[in-house]
Amino acid sequence: MRVALNILIGRGEIQRAVARLAAEIGRDYQGKAPLLVGVLKGSFVFLADLVRLLDIPVEIEFVRLSSYGAGKKTSGKIRMVPGLSAPVRGRDVLVIEDIVDSGLTTTFLLDRLRRGKPASLRLCALLDKPSRRKVAVPIDYLGFTVPDKFLVGYGLDWDEGFRHLPDICVLEEG
Ligand code: IMP
Ligand code: MG
Repeated sequence: MRVALNILIGRGEIQRAVARLAAEIGRDYQGKAPLLVGVLKGSFVFLADLVRLLDIPVEIEFVRLSSYGAGKKTSGKIRMVPGLSAPVRGRDVLVIEDIVDSGLTTTFLLDRLRRGKPASLRLCALLDKPSRRKVAVPIDYLGFTVPDKFLVGYGLDWDEGFRHLPDICVLEEG
């Protein structure tokens, strides 16, 4: 199969958005030391860039969530593997997502984390693709709203490829 990549959000624009988000987060969490929970694998590039621009102390955890099955749409059945090791009770928890699409993955994680009784729980997502939303997700810190296209790069993959691209690109199948 042939694929074409077209840049949707270039690296410069991404870096400006990440700087804006870091400023917003730094301002809101002044005097606190939030626990950032990155959702693997997609958020690894975004999280790495974001934390280096923060002027507050943070702890970093990762969770790996998988929805069963391959393909470009979530199956809706989500598992957490292997689970969060840091206790969230009493912590200010900030989830870092690459993209909120159907919203099922994020909702699953937020519900799970809420059960651990954090002092606060917020969501930071680089991308919001609202056109395919199945459950409402409140995004506290958002980079960009994107159209209903399949995106790769800056951590986002198609079949585990393209995560390393520095720009966010639309993947078109030709
Ligand atoms: P959900 O549909 O909101 O549950 O999103 C689940 C996951 O699907 C996201 O965290 C991404 O890893 C992945 N995903 C959604 N849209 C895209 C896309 O356009 N490109 C790559 N991965 C995506
Ligand atoms: Mg993801």
